[in-house]
Amino acid sequence: MLYSNSISSHVLNTMIQDTLYSNKWNLVKPLSHNVHQFHGTSATCHFTGKDISRSKSKKLCSQQGSAATATMAVHGKDTNERYAVVTGANKGIGLETVRQLAIAGVTVILTARNDKRGTDAVASLALPNVIFHQLDVLDDKSVQSLVDFISKKFGRLDILVNNAGASGVAVDEDSLRAMKIDPTSWLSGQAMNAVQGVIKTSYHTAKECLDTNYYGVKRVTEGLLPLLELSTNGGRIVNVSSLRSELRRIPSEQIREELGDIESLTEQRIDKIVDSFFHDLKHDMLEANGWSMMLPAYSISKATLNAYTRVLAKKYPNMCINCVHPGYVDTDINWHTGTMTVEEGAKGSVLLALLPDGGPTGCYFDRTEVAEF
Ligand SMILES: NC(=O)c1ccc[n+]([C@@H]2O[C@H](COP(=O)([O-])OP(=O)(O)OC[C@H]3O[C@@H](n4cnc5c(N)ncnc54)[C@H](OP(=O)(O)O)[C@@H]3O)[C@@H](O)[C@H]2O)c1
Repeated sequence: MLYSNSISSHVLNTMIQDTLYSNKWNLVKPLSHNVHQFHGTSATCHFTGKDISRSKSKKLCSQQGSAATATMAVHGKDTNERYAVVTGANKGIGLETVRQLAIAGVTVILTARNDKRGTDAVASLALPNVIFHQLDVLDDKSVQSLVDFISKKFGRLDILVNNAGASGVAVDEDSLRAMKIDPTSWLSGQAMNAVQGVIKTSYHTAKECLDTNYYGVKRVTEGLLPLLELSTNGGRIVNVSSLRSELRRIPSEQIREELGDIESLTEQRIDKIVDSFFHDLKHDMLEANGWSMMLPAYSISKATLNAYTRVLAKKYPNMCINCVHPGYVDTDINWHTGTMTVEEGAKGSVLLALLPDGGPTGCYFDRTEVAEF
């Protein structure tokens, strides 16, 4: 049965590599030939709309391929083109994602909330198949304007990369830098106590974070879904998440179970979890009630984003809808504490944006490999 399949991540990663090799567009090369083995972990995840067995996933690729070819004459203005939107793309991982997608031949709409920052970013790329449109993920009118623009100009959308993000904290950057926290203790969360004095969460910063990383993604996705449904290959949605989202990092068993229970998860239930986070934040009960204390708003914003990704994947079985941790990347959002380049950081988003027909959906990836929620 779909969504209840629990298979080892090793098997799943092998299947994903196989599926990528059978990519009919031949645009995606496997980014890693080394299939990583996850000892003792499992991932609930499946291939688009079908059984997860190896031979079937290959067969499915060719079946869906011919169906897609048959509908190519129907939707969209140019049937051979693919059209992508990347949010928050004026800098960082988003800008690099645009660049890599454009080089792969996709027509990319680079979006940014600020016109100047967006047009400067497009100019910096100097690629003919990248165009700018303003998008503030917090603003309904801005989303509608983007939807109208794509609808008139292209008639459909093939790829949506929900990349825009906010950290959910106010930071004393100089003091943070002076602490010289090593990446290992930052990533593991061991630095949590050390950074409490320089990284502060307020109701205001938390609200902006959840509004951007969770409700913002929902707003943009809901607006663009009708255009994604017209995609000739079923549509791809990539939600840029974070390892802070991983359920094992949440101390409360109840919250972990609620967010991990794909059978009963609904958007309403996820929204309720967000409400209870804000209740506890207001009453200074985050720690007592078992929320993650390392970047609490950011962590829950990405955990709820992952849960939303799974709900959406279930609702739209013909699309590939996945979320991805890009790695620990040197960008503004982490005050340049990250160790990886944006080129490396964009690989996961690009891989998932260019998944072939019959590719995985409802999965969480740690960069280019499937991992446990
Ligand atoms: N860097 C990492 O190590 C890391 C790790 C895990 C996950 N991520 C995720 O990766 C994604 C990209 O982040 P990044 O590292 O590239 O950071 P970044 O360079 O700070 O980029 C964040 C982008 O989001 C945009 N943004 C924020 N609020 C927005 C809004 N309301 N509407 C539209 N755009 C908005 C920013 O625009 P402005 O320039 O206008 O502020 C900026 O373009 C985020 O979702 C982040 O959570 C990053």
